[in-house]
Amino acid sequence: MTVADVRIEAMAPRDIDAVRSIDEVVYANPWSVATWRRELAGPDRLHLVALDGDAVVGHAGLLFVLDDVHVTTVATAPGREGEGIATALLVRLLEAALTHGATAATLEVRAADRRPQRLYGRFGFRPAGVRRNYYQNPTDDGIVMWLHDLDGDEVAAMLRELAEPRRPTPTGDSS
Ligand SMILES: CC(C)(COP(=O)(O)OP(=O)(O)OC[C@H]1O[C@@H](n2cnc3c(N)ncnc32)[C@H](O)[C@@H]1OP(=O)(O)O)[C@@H](O)C(=O)NCCC(=O)NCCS
Repeated sequence: MTVADVRIEAMAPRDIDAVRSIDEVVYANPWSVATWRRELAGPDRLHLVALDGDAVVGHAGLLFVLDDVHVTTVATAPGREGEGIATALLVRLLEAALTHGATAATLEVRAADRRPQRLYGRFGFRPAGVRRNYYQNPTDDGIVMWLHDLDGDEVAAMLRELAEPRRPTPTGDSS
């Protein structure tokens, strides 16, 4: 299975249970059904799901704040990591942000979570500060990351590149 088999759509209330099943595994403090209903109803929010057939295999969302977007969630179903699902979701999320006139994007990520930091780094997000003890269960600092010039040519080129289907990694590549 590759990301080519996955389609990305706006999240709907019918997806809440499946999304929560993923979040219960990957997040320490998953959102409640009530929070999800508010998120899906909020005019300043956008949530996307990655679907493989009828199965939700990932989701990502953002909050519009003036000219910025705040990426609030990115999660891939356990067992489906490394297929490019989160990459595909973020590409679509940032394209939608651009369509709405956003000029920068920001997010927080656990200091201990290197994998999402690498993912965001590939999109051009850079560390801009630390919120001490921002996360609980377990306690961890939050790294604040920013992607400036979201509406610039470099980001447009990078989004086109990341939207391409992944190429197999050559044997022996230890990067
Ligand atoms: C972090 C997380 C979202 C990544 O999801 P994913 O679907 O596995 O991400 P992708 O497949 O798009 O990218 C992961 C890997 O595939 C590779 N990859 C993906 N797309 C690629 C592409 N187009 N070209 C080359 N490689 C690619 C990357 O090298 C990456 O490897 P790395 O993680 O070792 O750096 C997922 O592990 C997860 O849900 N974690 C728990 C929740 C979480 O921490 N969310 C972030 C909250 S801030």
